[in-house]
Amino acid sequence: MYRGIITGLGMRGLYWLDMVKKHARCEIVAAVEPHEASRKRAIEQFGVSPSMIHDSLADAVTAVGVGGKEGADFVLDVTPPSVHQAVAEAAFGYGLHVLGEKPLSDDYGVCLQVIEAGKKAGVKHMVAQNYRFSPGARQIAKTVASGKVGQPGQCDVRFYMPWADAPGSHYVTQPYMLINDMMVHHFDLMRMILQRNPIAVQAMTWNPSWGWHVGQGSHSIVFEFPDNLYATHVALACSVGDYRDYNGDWRIEGPEGSLEWSDGHIWYGHRHRTETPTREEVLIGAGHPAVDDGLMDEFFDAIEQDREPETSAADNLHSVAMVFAAIKSAKEKRRVELSELG
Ligand SMILES: NC(=O)c1ccc[n+]([C@@H]2O[C@H](COP(=O)([O-])OP(=O)(O)OC[C@H]3O[C@@H](n4cnc5c(N)ncnc54)[C@H](O)[C@@H]3O)[C@@H](O)[C@H]2O)c1
Repeated sequence: MYRGIITGLGMRGLYWLDMVKKHARCEIVAAVEPHEASRKRAIEQFGVSPSMIHDSLADAVTAVGVGGKEGADFVLDVTPPSVHQAVAEAAFGYGLHVLGEKPLSDDYGVCLQVIEAGKKAGVKHMVAQNYRFSPGARQIAKTVASGKVGQPGQCDVRFYMPWADAPGSHYVTQPYMLINDMMVHHFDLMRMILQRNPIAVQAMTWNPSWGWHVGQGSHSIVFEFPDNLYATHVALACSVGDYRDYNGDWRIEGPEGSLEWSDGHIWYGHRHRTETPTREEVLIGAGHPAVDDGLMDEFFDAIEQDREPETSAADNLHSVAMVFAAIKSAKEKRRVELSELG
């Protein structure tokens, strides 16, 4: 049984507490939450025991210890992005593994620093890119890899959502949060599904008149991948229109046809005037664990097998690079090579 200290009892942290309770391989033995309002909500509305909540990671470590049969093995970091580095580096100092919420940081230079710190500490540092552990994501990646549509040449993703509308949160008040906090999921999915990392990006961002985000709530982004592959991403975070789910709507085109992933279904299509049209569903599910089980199992398997987890912080640098290159392109109004980030 792996024993974790959770940092951050905001809404996502409370969700994590529930997920961990349902998972057979781990338990939470202490929590860190410095803010009174979050502590109060966790205790009064979610039944968290006051005795397990501490002001700092140092206090939590003093209370529960590290390693052995009783002490903590890992930190589950569910703080806001600007805090991730401080939490991870403190955890590394105690030799604790870290499973941290995305995005790795809200600053690319900090991402590089924290990856190095994790490597030096010799612990596992994984980013919770949970979207790629969904059965649908796993299935479409497998179907693309099987060559069903041939070598993909184009991938188009659309996302319309009334995203992050609680006033005052970092999602609403900080710039470029839609790209940094939400779209890092889709960019990470692109890398997994297309099995490539992009080389350049061109982005435009704007804010519709009715939007509630201080930063840009809308964008159109084009990524160039190797092998003449292009991916577009269009998003509107203040949509009050119809929407499907947080995965967005995907279409991948190759010389042998198209794959569409939307609303929990995947469709293969092939249609040309010289051939009989085909539209068939690619069934999702068999052999794929539920999202959170898959993510946590990967973390614990990586510890047991002493290998890098699939979404290690080092691997995740390629996903956050897409975020920061897109933001740079939007700010500077030009095509940006990912290598420019250094
Ligand atoms: N993977 C997903 O699908 C998903 C979904 C939602 C949120 N998230 C991520 O989870 C993280 C937290 O999001 P949230 O919506 O819960 O944010 P939030 O602001 O609601 O909660 C964060 C909590 O962390 C606490 N905190 C701040 N500094 C701290 C510190 N030094 N030590 C311990 N706690 C500290 C705050 O007091 C707050 O209670 C973000 O990185 C977000 O992107 C991921």
